[in-house]
Amino acid sequence: MIIIGADHAGFELKNIIIEYFKEKNIKYSDVTDYDKNLNDDYTDVAIEVCKNVLKNEGNLGIAICGTGIGISVACNKIKRIIATPCFDEYTARMVKRDNNSNVLCLGGRLEYSKNKEDVLNIINVYINTPFEGERHLRRVNKIRDMEDVFGKKLWE
Ligand code: RB5
Repeated sequence: MIIIGADHAGFELKNIIIEYFKEKNIKYSDVTDYDKNLNDDYTDVAIEVCKNVLKNEGNLGIAICGTGIGISVACNKIKRIIATPCFDEYTARMVKRDNNSNVLCLGGRLEYSKNKEDVLNIINVYINTPFEGERHLRRVNKIRDMEDVFGKKLWE
């Protein structure tokens, strides 16, 4: 299942993606299924997307803000989330293959968002690329260890 959510800066892009999911019968859940709200915060969207991604193994998230950066920073504060902004097919492939990303972060105000085909290519590559494991698993496991060790307030 794909969990999708966007703040106001990603609102239009989210709708384009959802239209595509409907067309292709791709299972999704829109956790920000409400009207555009200029006062919403990408941090709240990050929580909703990530919470639902973590509910079932194999879920993937798509979290959208203006740049894809702010929301990725917020998502990555959540344990077991690997949220990755992607800008093209190459980055979309690598974040799955090497980093085992579980949340794709997109920017509704970035250049690629003006071209539907570019965005859909990023999404398709992201969804269809498997994690390679092996040496990458060792590294991703080290990220998990970091969450466990450094996720605490070290200065206390
Ligand atoms: C909202 O205006 C914008 O700041 C937000 O969508 C995001 O791009 C932040 O990183």
